[in-house]
Amino acid sequence: MNRPEFSSRRIVSTSEGETERLGAELAATLSRDALVLVEGNLGTGKTVLVRGIGRALGIDPREIQSPTYNLIHEHEGEHGRLVHVDLYRLEGDEIAALGLEEILDGEGIKAVEWAERLHDWPVGSAVDMGTVDAGTVGTGTVDTGTVNTVRIRLQRLAPDEHEIVIETPSA
Ligand SMILES: Nc1ncnc2c1ncn2[C@@H]1O[C@H](COP(=O)(O)OP(=O)(O)OP(=O)(O)O)[C@@H](O)[C@H]1O
Ligand SMILES: [Mg+2]
Repeated sequence: MNRPEFSSRRIVSTSEGETERLGAELAATLSRDALVLVEGNLGTGKTVLVRGIGRALGIDPREIQSPTYNLIHEHEGEHGRLVHVDLYRLEGDEIAALGLEEILDGEGIKAVEWAERLHDWPVGSAVDMGTVDAGTVGTGTVDTGTVNTVRIRLQRLAPDEHEIVIETPSA
């Protein structure tokens, strides 16, 4: 009933560079507190895309890697803060123990790899796309966009050819 409409955009990226650029372009549309849910299998380009977001925020792209031991990485860029979360190794209870709620309420763009794992999470409904209040403006500065939540689904179609579907609640 209250489910907002979504606009969905599908891109077939043919190189790592293209996916990274797409991430940077996307960053320009986001509020500085936005939540970016990144879904897709191993090696589909989730980190590459997050790297593009980081680059747009003025973060050294070399610093943005698939988190291995640390599941949460925080980066400060000239144009904003990025909180990079990777849920790959986690099960429901462990995810609950991460204190994600606080992180997601905090400052910065939150990019969550393996966001599909959030479905088992007790407060998952808080980040369910269906409950997102479309068009709410974050606390970003003038130069930032207004999109607060975006879901990105990546899939590898062929070597170098990765499908990227971007869903945003339409205002
Ligand atoms: N069009 C493309 N877009 C993104 N990456 C691509 C593309 N074509 C090839 N690649 C390669 O795919 C790999 C994607 O790696 P990346 O670490 O971003 O995946 P991931 O989804 O984060 O994986 P993981 O689940 O292990 O964290 C890179 O090695 C990259 O060079
Ligand atoms: Mg990754």
